[in-house]
Amino acid sequence: MSARVAILISGRGSNLRALCEAMKADDFPAEPVLVLSNRPGAGGLEYAKAEGLPHAVIDHTLFYSRDSFDAALQDALLAARPDIICLAGFMRLLTPGFVEKWKGKLVNIHPSLLPKYPGLNTHQRALDAGDTEAGCTVHHVVPEMDAGEIIGQTRVPIRPGDTAEMLETRVREAEHALYPACLRKLVDQSSRG
Ligand code: GAR
Repeated sequence: MSARVAILISGRGSNLRALCEAMKADDFPAEPVLVLSNRPGAGGLEYAKAEGLPHAVIDHTLFYSRDSFDAALQDALLAARPDIICLAGFMRLLTPGFVEKWKGKLVNIHPSLLPKYPGLNTHQRALDAGDTEAGCTVHHVVPEMDAGEIIGQTRVPIRPGDTAEMLETRVREAEHALYPACLRKLVDQSSRG
């Protein structure tokens, strides 16, 4: 049986693309059932449209509170009946109540080797610290930001002369392999009960 996957985005959507391309493989045990963006202009929506994937926008600027935004998100997700929700560059903090409802089914990708550098500007922070490696992490989502159990991590080197942009590109390439691999792992684990 194929796991139903909802993917939440805010921007470019390169991880959305990586996930959906991976799911096209005959032996991949999951399928995308919804692409949802909180920004009407998110580049990833173009990919979803071109691929004929179900997609929706819930514009967070039209909501007066986090709770009301998350309630709308919840309605859209319940209609799509996902087994797993992948946050893929979704740049909104979710309320603890929402996170609790999807406990164990809600995962995120973050551009650092967590627990190092939760939050923003991860690449510049790694460079400023003089780190020799960086990377990305796929993890379960818990109410605390970027703090849940780690599902998988990939390390990349930091090279002399790297800028934040160069590092971001290297890390993002690693993300595109890591996220589908972690999704597969998660589906395999949940199908074993
Ligand atoms: C990715 O690098 C992802 O790790 C990061 O946003 C980027 C989205 O790129 N996520 C976070 O920083 C979440 N805290 P994409 O839209 O091309 O997938």
